[in-house]
Amino acid sequence: MLIKRPDDILPSEITPPEVYADRRRFLQVAGLSAAGLALSQPTRLLAAQSGLPGPIAKSPLSTAEELTPRKDITSYCNFYEFGTDKSDPAANAGRMQTRPWTVKVDGLVGKPKTFDIDELIKLAPLEERIYRLRCVEAWSMVVPWVGFPLSALLKQVDPLGSAKYVEFTTLYDPKVMSRLPVLNWPYKEGLRLDEAMHPLTLMAVGLYGDVLPNQNGAPLRLVVPWKYGFKSAKSIVHIRLTDKQPNTAWNDAAPSEYGFYSNVNPDVNHPRWSQAKERRIGDFLKRPTLPFNGYADQVASLYTGMDLKKNF
Ligand code: MTE
Repeated sequence: MLIKRPDDILPSEITPPEVYADRRRFLQVAGLSAAGLALSQPTRLLAAQSGLPGPIAKSPLSTAEELTPRKDITSYCNFYEFGTDKSDPAANAGRMQTRPWTVKVDGLVGKPKTFDIDELIKLAPLEERIYRLRCVEAWSMVVPWVGFPLSALLKQVDPLGSAKYVEFTTLYDPKVMSRLPVLNWPYKEGLRLDEAMHPLTLMAVGLYGDVLPNQNGAPLRLVVPWKYGFKSAKSIVHIRLTDKQPNTAWNDAAPSEYGFYSNVNPDVNHPRWSQAKERRIGDFLKRPTLPFNGYADQVASLYTGMDLKKNF
């Protein structure tokens, strides 16, 4: 983001070969290389042990690509409230209390409501969704999220016809989080309502069959797989429907670098680096970045007639 450029990623930050071998072993054992509908044995076991309401079905919306190892997903993180180094969130986010936790949903809705998190995670059947995550810093991962569609939550509050956007506000607790003004706290993100209602847009409550680790945004985070990773607000406490495009933390910090839409687009470079390629965590060579992070067939129609160079 503002701090690190893709070229600043040290070789030591890239998955070593033994972890890579571990990943292959996991895939063989778990039989997770193909996205099927069946519940794999490890998924059942993890769901039972994690306290997530199970069973967790495997979503057909998943990619069949190789998973990034759990230890990379949980140790190479961006969560600036806990520090700006990739390892800071794993070291510091344990201080955040994720129970009790409520999420207020209000604004232009017929039935505003404050949900307790334990009620919220039972609103809709949980699914395992394996998505590519493409960070604006030009690295990517493949993450087996556990969650439910955001649309299931929004339908509970009856969005009004005048609602056009959704604003997400995340926890800011200076007792356990950074007091440095790195970004305008609390962290905010936003989507257009049709993006928010899209079947790919996920509220994640877990990964790898287990509850979300704090550093990955416990107890509830947004995942929008065709947008850069910073759209996926972590540790959400408030969701507000509005008729105006909301301000977002990164757009406030550097409007020329981080737009509201932030769709993954290999043709629109970040002003300080190319977005044409990405390094999959664990790989040595870069691979081409795909328009909409490979989800163009499902989402390109949301932007028909828009100039995506202007609306970056
Ligand atoms: N959410 C909050 N509250 N604070 C943050 O700093 N960072 C964003 C996003 N959500 C961030 C956040 C960025 S820049 C990215 S790339 C993703 O979280 C990273 O998610 P991960 O660490 O789980 O891979």
